[in-house]
Amino acid sequence: MAPAKTLTSLAEEKTLEGRFVRDEDERPKVAYNEFSSEIPVISIAGIEEVNGRRGEICKKIVKACEEWGIFQIVDHGVDVELVSEMTRLSKEFFALPPEEKLRFDMTGAKKGGFLVSSHLQGEAVQDWREIVIYFSYPIEKRDYSRWPDKPEGWRKVTEEYSEKLTCLASKLLEVLSEALGLDKQVLKTASLEMDQKIVVNFYPKCPQPDLTLGVKRHTDPGTITLLLQDNVGGLQATRDNGITWITVQPVHGAFVVNLGDHAHYLSNGRFKNADHQAVVNSKCSRLSIATFQNPAQEATVYPLKLRDGEKSVLEEPISYAEMYKRKMNKDLEMARLKKLAKEKQLKDLDNTKIDAKSLDDILA
Ligand code: OGA
Ligand code: NI
Repeated sequence: MAPAKTLTSLAEEKTLEGRFVRDEDERPKVAYNEFSSEIPVISIAGIEEVNGRRGEICKKIVKACEEWGIFQIVDHGVDVELVSEMTRLSKEFFALPPEEKLRFDMTGAKKGGFLVSSHLQGEAVQDWREIVIYFSYPIEKRDYSRWPDKPEGWRKVTEEYSEKLTCLASKLLEVLSEALGLDKQVLKTASLEMDQKIVVNFYPKCPQPDLTLGVKRHTDPGTITLLLQDNVGGLQATRDNGITWITVQPVHGAFVVNLGDHAHYLSNGRFKNADHQAVVNSKCSRLSIATFQNPAQEATVYPLKLRDGEKSVLEEPISYAEMYKRKMNKDLEMARLKKLAKEKQLKDLDNTKIDAKSLDDILA
């Protein structure tokens, strides 16, 4: 059998394999390190002080959610030591030999583990990344057999990290709930029991980063995502449907907060679902840890409140499972149309050749 291949080995090659090469319109437009400060960095120290800073902090958060669906938070209270342990262990995992990582291979719909790339079924081009996924909440659904057992200490640290990030996400959802004029628990309760999924992304350095993406453009499906990124840079956002992009400035110790489709629908479109992607580079690898807070499959997706005369962005209430299915089908349909358009282009090119040939015949 051929030796198992992970991306880490491809990173040493001179050219990029064809399966990672994106169509021109999908390729990066802005460099990984051309940072923008358009995304606000908000200190949430004192967020609990109702008669203190809370009002001011909430205003900033809400404004960012209405404009971008993305902001960064600092002074969030998650222990620095915990965050650096989580980062260290993640880096150590990806540095393991391929066969060690592939012991946790999750192809075949296993609930968690290691994957190279991860791309939608039916999509031809792959993302330039390796990932570890684990499902941490609800606790009864944890399958520890799918959590890496190396490096030593992974489980303990990741458990603690999961818990701290759930609390932090809940605090932010309370703010958003109040901003919608609702009781602070409403947004969270609408998820029924909140799910948490953690995806550790490792983007090895890439031989031809201009031709590919670490993660292709998308919106996160769930309610809220807390992303920890290192100081390399690569997360990009757009709010004009992909025409212009900005690279989010890495801020040490900060979490990037992204709102997903669920929050967008529940707020009847008032909060943006962040449209984003990750680009890679040829100089160094990059690590990011995305913590996704998602509603339960059977949770209802529909605006929580409609003002008089306001029209709903959704025709009818649907389940989160249904919302997700529709999203996936739409993505697949887009991929199919794109493939067809490309085939047609090639065919037209062929026909032009034939036409030119017949012209030659006529002229002969
Ligand atoms: C994701 C994601 C961006 C990044 O994992 O959904 O958008 O910068 N990651 O790693
Ligand atoms: Ni994302």
